[in-house]
Amino acid sequence: MARTLTFLGIESSCDDTAAAIVRHGDDGTQILASIVSGQTELHAAFGGVVPEIAARAHAEKLDLCVEQALEQAQLGLTDLDGIAVTAGPGLIGGVMSGVMCAKGIAAGTGLPLVGVNHLAGHALTPRLTDGMAFPYLMLLVSGGHCQFLIAHGSEEFTRLGGTIDDAPGEAFDKTAKLLALPQPGGPNVETEAEGGNPKAYAFPRPLLDRPGCDMSFSGLKTALLRTRDEVVAQHGGLPRAIRRDICASFQAAVTDVLVKKSRRALTEYMDLAPSAPGFAVAGGVAANRAIRAGLESVATEFGATFVAPPLRLCTDNAAMIAWAGLERFRLGHRDGMDLVARPRWPLDRKAAPLLGSGKKGAKA
Ligand code: KG4
Ligand code: ZN
Repeated sequence: MARTLTFLGIESSCDDTAAAIVRHGDDGTQILASIVSGQTELHAAFGGVVPEIAARAHAEKLDLCVEQALEQAQLGLTDLDGIAVTAGPGLIGGVMSGVMCAKGIAAGTGLPLVGVNHLAGHALTPRLTDGMAFPYLMLLVSGGHCQFLIAHGSEEFTRLGGTIDDAPGEAFDKTAKLLALPQPGGPNVETEAEGGNPKAYAFPRPLLDRPGCDMSFSGLKTALLRTRDEVVAQHGGLPRAIRRDICASFQAAVTDVLVKKSRRALTEYMDLAPSAPGFAVAGGVAANRAIRAGLESVATEFGATFVAPPLRLCTDNAAMIAWAGLERFRLGHRDGMDLVARPRWPLDRKAAPLLGSGKKGAKA
């Protein structure tokens, strides 16, 4: 019988300040509270996240978010068994704000402190939502991340490959910018793509001719820019119907790359002969219906269960941090007041570092 544990999670590695409370015991897992306070409007004028502004906003909001989470869960600090905090990777000022907040609470209450890898938070989410069994294959796909991971255990991951430049969410955001669609680009490009012809333009699908699971998305925006300029030169503007075709063709290219590379990643993963094969996806781009449908059908091809957690748990949140901290704690992991904030922290220590860093900062 496992002791029931209640953990506070704190997340501040990018542009969302978040606090959550998760309880886990023999009778299951509950998210008792999850507060996410975004900073989109603070960075809107700058076309990307400004690290100093983000760090200051986190420092101002963190204790309020913790207070709100406790209130939502109707708990006090004394009802907790531990505090989990994102200790990296991410924008260092923000990570430091969270780590300092968590250390303050730990020092004041005497509760154990557990530093969590933000990527492990995403990668362990299918266990929080669906109790997925190890080993499973994970695709993290957002504005800052893009990698295939095999999760063997709560602290053991193999990275099969990832983007060598832009993350797909970044490509969606840049596409929206080039086509004068509002930010965040993903949902707007997806809406525009409806009714467009996905075969109208043959956008590049880089690295598909090479073995392995690495991907590249930066060439797409150059091709898109060229196409847009040609259309504008020819029509004196960007007709709505053509913009729809461009969005549909762009989305088809991203989907195609993710689907084909998922097939390779699943092939490698299936070599482990998992008894209950599972393929999960997390990150904002997992909200895209075409991409989701493509990934689900590849999972079915391989006889793997497909899990796409609800969007609020796919994007940055603190429930995933509380959960990952709780799993680490059960393995006996504790951190002291010497816990450091790390800008880079690869999940797979044996894998070569990734070249790309993403618009939201270095992500390992
Ligand atoms: O996971 P997330 O909230 O933040 C991080 O990047 O860590 O992901 C945000 C990204 C943005 O780039 C956004 O454009 C993209 O996810 N996104 C989408 C969709 N919804 C959000 N991309 C494609 N289709 C969508 N429906
Ligand atoms: Zn994230």
